[in-house]
Amino acid sequence: MPYCLGYLFMPSPFYITTAIDYANGSPHLGHAYEKVLSDVISRHMRMSGRKVHFLTGLDEHGQKVQQTALKRGVEPQALVDEIAAVFKGMLGDLNISHDDYIRTTEPRHKKVVQQFLQKLFDQGLIYKGQKTDWYSTRQEQFLTDKDRDADGSWPEIYGEVTQTTEENFYFKLSQFQPWLVEHIKSHPDFITPRFRQNQVLEFLKEPMNDLCISRPKSRLTWGIELPFDTSFVTYVWFDALTNYYSAVADKGFWPADVHVIGKDILSPPHAVYWPCMLKALGIEPPRQLLVHGWWTVNNQKASKSSGNATNTLSFADSHGADAFRYYLCREMVVGQDADFSTTTFENRYKADLGNNLGNLVNRLLNMVGRNYAGAIPAAAADEELEKNLRQLWSDSIKKYNEAFADYQVSHALEALWVFISAMNAYIEARAPWKLAKSTEADDRARLDSCLAHVAEGLRLVGTILTPVMPATCDKLLTNIGRPVATHFEGELTWSAACTGSKVAEKCILFPPIEAPTETPSA
Ligand code: ME8
Ligand code: MG
Repeated sequence: MPYCLGYLFMPSPFYITTAIDYANGSPHLGHAYEKVLSDVISRHMRMSGRKVHFLTGLDEHGQKVQQTALKRGVEPQALVDEIAAVFKGMLGDLNISHDDYIRTTEPRHKKVVQQFLQKLFDQGLIYKGQKTDWYSTRQEQFLTDKDRDADGSWPEIYGEVTQTTEENFYFKLSQFQPWLVEHIKSHPDFITPRFRQNQVLEFLKEPMNDLCISRPKSRLTWGIELPFDTSFVTYVWFDALTNYYSAVADKGFWPADVHVIGKDILSPPHAVYWPCMLKALGIEPPRQLLVHGWWTVNNQKASKSSGNATNTLSFADSHGADAFRYYLCREMVVGQDADFSTTTFENRYKADLGNNLGNLVNRLLNMVGRNYAGAIPAAAADEELEKNLRQLWSDSIKKYNEAFADYQVSHALEALWVFISAMNAYIEARAPWKLAKSTEADDRARLDSCLAHVAEGLRLVGTILTPVMPATCDKLLTNIGRPVATHFEGELTWSAACTGSKVAEKCILFPPIEAPTETPSA
């Protein structure tokens, strides 16, 4: 049966997701970063030959959204429709290549949430009870006394915390605690970077409570109705987490290869609720949680409530999406926090991009135009300098790939820029402008080699960097007379591919630009 065989041998797609953003404000730097990081990984995987399914979306239910709608005097649906358009606009501005966008108000999602709930209910894993709890609307999360600071107050991240006594439905989460601990211990890559795993295991040393999965409609109407009791809606985290599955329920892409999330939503939602929900439903857990840190802007947390990080997105307008993407990927070590400032942005733009990479391209085009009528020469001389440069490429690409295998994109870029700097040093050492004046045959051979090596180096750089700066790399490659890069296989080893390519007269990849004046503000 050829049909079945074809299906069996079809390579499994790489399924990657971002957190779905709360639809109660404007997109900010944290949202932008997460999309860019996931997009860079997606594009890299596609160019590595993997079929990719990249999902992102919007978290549209819950108390926070209902409150915002009420405050603005609009219907929640009208509010989220408006906000969805703004968030999708950001994806376009940042050149994000997602394959699907899920909104939790869509029927395809609601259907799966209700199926999940019904199944758990039928299995006796959901029961009704009454408890008194503390609730943080900002984090849409129940709290216990364990969450308090040493002085008894609630940490700032929770915003206003209120006490509720209600009859609700509970999922028997605690029953899955031993399984979860065992799962995390036996899957050391489940939570990346590794140090985050220890935090989760630490949290799991205490017995967990069962998870309240409902809200009475008397308090919250903006949610998905419980299929077995329509006077309640579903708790927003139970609803939101299910997006990763509901979006691909009929596509066969589950389990997800990686959920990209920020550190504030690792534990308990992604590291505890989600795997236990799936376990209870008899569905495989996701393979990996990739947990990034927090951006601050001028050393203050970027958040919707403070509004300080919205303006940072205008750097993508002023300097181009690619420069912004590069900055975010280069500046934040995945897993650690990072700070956004005009100074560091401008430094990277001018130094890394303009002077280091942009000038190199122009020098090449200039020299090739002047001395070879625009056609890249073949390498002739092969001396120590050339051998060293090629060796450096092998070292850099090896480091790049090793770092990327752990999604350590900033380290990968760091390794690549060692090579780009070395190319600049190579040009300085070779001084082609002097060689061009010489009448010696040896010098002409050196000049050939110099320009051939710089062209080839740039071809390699333009290829590996395409996932990070897609439009810029297309332009770079086109301007050195090469086709745009669509795949890595066979394209990342030193070759003579550029010989004879016709280069453009000039090409400004990173023009000098004034930073937006009113940004970033605290
Ligand atoms: O948490 N720096 O939505 P959200 C880096 N709807 N990342 C940040 C950040 C910052 N300053 N601020 C937020 C939610 N993020 C839920 C998710 S998933 C099933 C439901 C990250 O809009 C945050 O960590 O508050 C999260 O990964 C994403 O942005 C959306 O945050
Ligand atoms: Mg948040």
